Amino acid sequence: MLLTHATLATMNGPMGTEGYGLIPDAAVVIEGDRIAWAGPMAELPTAFRSLPEHDVAGRLVTPGLIDCHTHAVFAGHRAVEFELRLQGASYEEIARAGGGILSTVTATRAASEDDLLARALPRVDQLIASGATTIEVKSGYGLTVEDELKMLRAARRIGRSRPVTVRTTHLAAHAIPPEFKGRATAYIAEVAISSLRAAHAEGLVDAVDAFCETIAFSTDDLAPLFAEARALGLPVKLHAEQLTDQGGAAFAARHGALSADHLEYLSPEGVAAMAAAGTVAVILPGAFYTLRESQLPPIAALREAGVAMAVATDLNPGSSPLASLTLAMNMACTLFRLTPEEALLGTTVHAARALGLADRGRIAPSLRADLAIWDADHPAELSYRIGATPLHSRIFGGSLDA
Ligand code: NIG
Ligand code: FE
Repeated sequence: MLLTHATLATMNGPMGTEGYGLIPDAAVVIEGDRIAWAGPMAELPTAFRSLPEHDVAGRLVTPGLIDCHTHAVFAGHRAVEFELRLQGASYEEIARAGGGILSTVTATRAASEDDLLARALPRVDQLIASGATTIEVKSGYGLTVEDELKMLRAARRIGRSRPVTVRTTHLAAHAIPPEFKGRATAYIAEVAISSLRAAHAEGLVDAVDAFCETIAFSTDDLAPLFAEARALGLPVKLHAEQLTDQGGAAFAARHGALSADHLEYLSPEGVAAMAAAGTVAVILPGAFYTLRESQLPPIAALREAGVAMAVATDLNPGSSPLASLTLAMNMACTLFRLTPEEALLGTTVHAARALGLADRGRIAPSLRADLAIWDADHPAELSYRIGATPLHSRIFGGSLDA
C-alpha cells in the first residue's frame, strides 16, 4: 500500500532526537505488516510509485497510539464510590473499609472469562476509537490463582477479537484479599508467585506489576515477587508513589523496571534512580483528576533528569474510568503542564518503551505499520480537544480499518 499526501508526524526528531518529526506532503510505503519507506512525496523512490494508492488528502498521520497502562478487564462499576468521594470520603478510607479494589474483586471473581471479555470489548472499542493500536491490560482483580488466570486469558482474547495488539501484565500484587488480611508475605508466596508461575507457563504474561502503597504492599513484601519475575526472565513495572512516598520508584529502578507509574509523591532520589536505570515515568492524569489529587508529579524534575515520560489512561473502574487516550493527553497538558509534543511522545515512543516494544511508536522503515489517520492538520490538535476525538481511520498491521 502507498499512503500519499499525508502530514506525517514520524516522531523522529532531527539527528536522532525525539519530537514530532513533521514531514508535510509525505508518503508512506507499507509492505505486509511493516513500514517499508516514509518521506516527502517528491522523494518517493520510483519502484514504489505503481503501488495501490491511498490518498489521505493532507490529513495528519501519526504512529498508532499506545495505551501502556490499563485495567480494562473487570466486572461491575464503582459509581457509588464516586458519589461517596464527592461527599468527602477518600480513596484510602473506602479501600480500608473493604470497598475500592476489593469491591471490583468480588464482582470479577463472580464473572466468567467469557463475561469478562464481553464487558472489556466496548471499553477497548473506545480506546481504539481514540487512536490506539496497542494496549496493555493488567490482571489484579482476581487475587486467587484461578481468577488471575481467568483475567489474563480474557485479556489475551481481546487481541484475537479486535484489531489491536494486547500486552498482558500480571498484577496479582494489587491488593490483599480478605482471606489473607494481615498476611501479605503469605499472599505473595501462595497467590502472587504461584499465579505468576502458572500464568507464565501458559504464555499469559508479558510483564509483572504490583501496587506499592500503605493500603497494598511494601517494597519488602514485593522483593520475592520481583526476584521470581527475574528468574522467569520477565520485566517488571510498579504502581509507585501514587498516594504516599514508599520509595517504590527507586526499588523498581533497582530491579531494572520498564516503568514506574503514577508518581505524584515521587522524591528527588526517586527521580535520580529512574534516570540512572532508564525507567520510564508513566503519568496517569485520569487518576489524578478522578481522585481530585492536589499533589502534582514532579514533571519539571523528570524532564530535567531526562526521564522519558509516557501518558496512559489507567482505565479502571475506581480511580480512572477514562477510555480515551486523546483525553489523557489533554489532561497531561492541562493538569501536568506537558507540552502537546511531550504528550504525543508519551502515547507513542515512550509508551512503546514502557512496554519494552522496540518495533513500534515511530514511523520508520522496518517498524510495524500501525498508523492513526486524523481529521487534523497539526499534532497539537490531538491534545487540544476535550472529549471529541478527531480520529479518521487507522492502519493496523498494514490493514486499513473497515
Ligand atoms: O492504577 N493504584 C492502584 N490501582 C489502580 C486503581 C485500581 C482501582 O481503584 O480499581 C490505579 O489507580
Ligand atoms: Fe493502575
